[in-house]
This record gives sequence, structure tokens and C-alpha cells, in this order.
Amino acid sequence: MTRKGIILAGGSGTRLYPITLGVSKQLLPVYDKPMIYYPLTTLMLVGIREIAVITTPQDQEQFKRVLGDGSQWGVSLTYITQPSPDGLAQAYLLAESFLGDSPSAMVLGDNIFFGAGLQTVLKEADATATGGTVFGYRVADPERYGVVDFDAAGRVRAIIEKPEVPPSQYAVTGLYFLDATAPERAKTITPSARGELEITSLLESYLHDEALSVKQMGRGFAWLDTGTHASLLDAGNFVRTLEERQGLQSGSPDEVAFEKGWISAGDLAERAKKFGKNSYGAYLSRLIG
Ligand code: G1P
Repeated sequence: MTRKGIILAGGSGTRLYPITLGVSKQLLPVYDKPMIYYPLTTLMLVGIREIAVITTPQDQEQFKRVLGDGSQWGVSLTYITQPSPDGLAQAYLLAESFLGDSPSAMVLGDNIFFGAGLQTVLKEADATATGGTVFGYRVADPERYGVVDFDAAGRVRAIIEKPEVPPSQYAVTGLYFLDATAPERAKTITPSARGELEITSLLESYLHDEALSVKQMGRGFAWLDTGTHASLLDAGNFVRTLEERQGLQSGSPDEVAFEKGWISAGDLAERAKKFGKNSYGAYLSRLIG
């Protein structure tokens, strides 16, 4: 069964107030593109073409203006409303009918992944039909995330949400490959002390059934966070540095769609024209050659 994608782009973005009083966090710029372009591109790299975008009711129109129906990239975008932000695992309840019997890959709308060989890592996770795959990434401040607790043999014992004393340096990134049982499992979890359906509770359910694989995303990868004013700026600078040094974009759905043959050179030329003479448009024109 073909895997479907979910981008969770709800939430009130309180940590980025006052900026996010007027605009959704996932539409803020990361250098030259809206933030959501990056996680969208990650799902496209997996090869996923049917994607649900979950937003707050009030922000949905803006997302539609930015992303449309996805046909410009040869993908299909479905919009789902999250009436109130009750936790990441709620996404599987909201997306239940969209998913049907399909496995899924959910990416958080503010998570940015970059690295040589990323596509290979993603394809491997995609190839696992049952159970779940998540990624552990070494960070200096694990207490801000879901953290992996390993036993002495290196097996995953638990995943703990924002522990005061982190059991390891390995954070679980916001990219979850789960099989078709995810919505059913999500129905069985209860809200945490902070009143949310935690993604870590859903992962615990897989772990309990010995159906969760935690893959390490090694030091050659960048997993960037945009949760604070400083990290948002850092992410933008990172993208800018790569682009200016290499002349290569990251997080361009246009480029990935063209590389995958989902859109033609003519389609890409149309897109390039839309962006006029700015550097993103010029980049797309160069891809056509
Ligand atoms: C969420 C998850 C956490 C995960 C993180 C990745 O945290 O609850 O397990 O490590 O995303 O970005 P939040 O961003 O909601 O604080």
C-alpha cells in the first residue's frame, strides 16, 4: 500500500510571539522560502504524492494561497483543520479517513532535515511496511524534545517527552513513519499531564509491541529546529550559507518535483516565470538548462 504524507502545521507558535500573532509559524521565512516548503520537500523525497496539511482553522486560507492543491508539483494536497491544538498524536485522529488503510509519514511543519544520503535513509524507512520508524538525533539540549532511553545493550527501552533529566543525548526528530494501525492506536492513548495527546505515547504503543525501530541520523545530517527566535535565524543562515557556497537549493519542492519527473521542463519554466527575476526563480530557470 502506498504511503501517504501528513504535515502537521497547526499550533499557535507562542514561543515566537509577537511574530506569530499575525501569521502561522510554518509560513515564516527560512531564508528565501516559507518554512513549510522544507518538510514538504522531505516527504516528496520519500516519493510521497498524497499529502494532508493540518492547520488551524484561521490559518488554512493562507496555507492554501501558498501551496495550492499541489498540482504545480505533481502532488495532491488535502487540507485538514485542527480545531484546537491537543497534541501531535491528534493528527492521526484528524487524518484517519484521509489515510484509510495506508501507512503514513508525518513530518512536523517546523522540522528541517538536510544531509547527503537523506533520500536513502528515508527510502529505507519507507520500505518497512509494518510497525514504525523514527529517527534519533544527537543534540546538546535533549530536554526540549522526546528523548530515547537506551538499555545497556543499546536497545530502546522508552521514549520520554521533555524529561527533566534526559536519559540520553538522543532526541526523536519530528518525522514519523508509522503503519496503518496509527489512527487506531491514537484512539487508545490518554492525554498527558499538560493535557496533550503526546506523540511519545503513540510511539510507546509501538514500542510495547516491539514494533518500533529507532534509526540514528548521524552527524553528517542537519536536523534544524525553528522553535525560538535564535534557532529560526540560525536555520535561515544555514540555508543561505549552503546556497551561496554551493549554488544549490535545499527545500525546493519545485526542484524535487522536476528531478522525480512529476513535472515537465515546461511546467518548471512556468514556475520560474512566476518568481520573476528573484534568485529562486533564477535557480529554477538554471535547472532547466
Ligand atoms: C514535539 C514532540 C517531541 C519531538 C519534537 C521534534 O515537541 O513532542 O517528542 O522531539 O516535536 O521537533 P514540540 O515541538 O511539540 O515541543
